[in-house]
Amino acid sequence: MAHLLKGLAQPEITESVIPYGKLDATVQELLCAAYVVRQCAYAPYSNFKVGSAFRAKINNQIFTGCNVENAAFTPTACAERTALTKAISEGYQQFSTGAVVAYKPEVFISPCGVCRQFIREFAGNTDIPIYIAQALDERSPEEPFNSDDPVLCTSIFNLLPKSFHTY
Ligand code: THU
Repeated sequence: MAHLLKGLAQPEITESVIPYGKLDATVQELLCAAYVVRQCAYAPYSNFKVGSAFRAKINNQIFTGCNVENAAFTPTACAERTALTKAISEGYQQFSTGAVVAYKPEVFISPCGVCRQFIREFAGNTDIPIYIAQALDERSPEEPFNSDDPVLCTSIFNLLPKSFHTY
């Protein structure tokens, strides 16, 4: 029966916390893009601003998104889904990396369940590394992170193991 488990997505990456300064420059660039777009968040109800960025495999192009809330609450779009929806609608469906930034004291923020499933859709059979960092409002958009800022390096198959997928 164990063979039935083999087709289920399993993490390809071991989660770790790495100082920002030790990350690859392409990952630093992605995190900075997420920080910058977070400033556009429309979050008058929660006041919780989130920024996200995904790098497409083709052209290494970065797509960014922020959360967009709504008075009726349910129509709210999370930052991750905004970024991916922008990318998909521009013709990009495969992603090498993703980033999410927000601020909650003393803890990394972690993508909601709906966003995990949404990201997973575009992973296919290959895990997508996801980098999560705390965004501090007092930092400048030119230099939003310090080299010793902790970054959670995880992946969509870590965040959503054994996920639902039909093909
Ligand atoms: N939010 C995101 O943008 N991404 C997540 O993964 C979790 C939640 C947003 C939705 C809402 O605008 C605010 O954070 C508070 O829930």
